Amino acid sequence: MLEIDRLTVTLPLGLNGTPLPVLEEVSLSLGRGERLGVVGESGSGKTLLALAILGLLPEGAVASGAIRFDGIDLLTLPAEARRAYRGRRIGMVFQEPMTALHPMLTIGDQIGEGIALHQGLRGSALRQAVLDLLAQVHLPDPARRIDAYPHALSGGQRQRVGLAVALSGNPDLLIADEPTTALDVTVQRQILALLHDLTEARGLGLLLVSHDLGVVARLTQRLLVLYAGQAVETGPTLDLLTQPHHPYLRGLRAAVPSLGEALTPIPGTLPTPQERGTGCRFAPRCAFRQPPCAAPQTLRALGSRHVACWQAEALR
Ligand SMILES: Nc1ncnc2c1ncn2[C@@H]1O[C@H](COP(=O)(O)OP(=O)(O)OP(=O)(O)O)[C@@H](O)[C@H]1O
Ligand SMILES: [Mg+2]
Repeated sequence: MLEIDRLTVTLPLGLNGTPLPVLEEVSLSLGRGERLGVVGESGSGKTLLALAILGLLPEGAVASGAIRFDGIDLLTLPAEARRAYRGRRIGMVFQEPMTALHPMLTIGDQIGEGIALHQGLRGSALRQAVLDLLAQVHLPDPARRIDAYPHALSGGQRQRVGLAVALSGNPDLLIADEPTTALDVTVQRQILALLHDLTEARGLGLLLVSHDLGVVARLTQRLLVLYAGQAVETGPTLDLLTQPHHPYLRGLRAAVPSLGEALTPIPGTLPTPQERGTGCRFAPRCAFRQPPCAAPQTLRALGSRHVACWQAEALR
């Protein structure tokens, strides 16, 4: 359904606004009903990847490569045709549902807008469809809340409504960017379970962006690990998390606190787009750094996965 082929995105961040890459030759594929996680530290390019698919990149961004949706390269479409994919074919869920919800419209009106547009329902049939969708996202007491404004809901309830808005156009693909980061752990688990059940029941593809390995472990079958705008490891989620090969993913894994284990943060920080050299971008922070790391590292196949590290075999 979704095929991204060597997507590169530049932003005018260099001296005098020269373009610098913020995503470099990133490829991925996602079939119907599949769930893919995109992980990486803050600034690695996760949100830009989501925005590129949605056609919502910031002013001045230039995208090259291809983003094919059912065979059509979205990057070649005019803005108008592109917009038709948002909401209808591709639904979006964001970290803070308030940004996606209009504060002055009732939740019923906001969800109804998508359903009216895409299914052509009106009046009581439309209201019933909104109530059905609110029940599907397990919003308590939908009949009372359908006429409420977003501010009257809790964070978890708002995220349920945000999910209902994303589903209102009956999309084939859901893109969720840190959908549970703003929520407490209990509510986070409920929303993740809901995302799992809804994507499963509707046969939806899910692209889940998160900095939290626990979240992607729970929900996704495959992973794409980004570091400073480049893919460093991809493959089955279980394989990657139980036996990470790339030193960066090993570091991320070790930085997850588990009961009774010490947390080992990765030393140093992610290089900014201005600070990136030509060799392996993780090398300055890597405990296994060797002279060959000064050469560029690109993904290569290794068993069930792809890894961008020349030492991957020796380190696994
Ligand atoms: N509108 C923008 N203008 C300038 N630079 C931007 C813009 N959006 C993103 N960037 C830069 O692009 C890089 C990737 O940003 P992005 O938001 O995709 O990271 P992220 O992985 O989503 O991080 P986080 O986990 O903090 O959300 C960063 O270096 C960021 O500073
Ligand atoms: Mg982000």
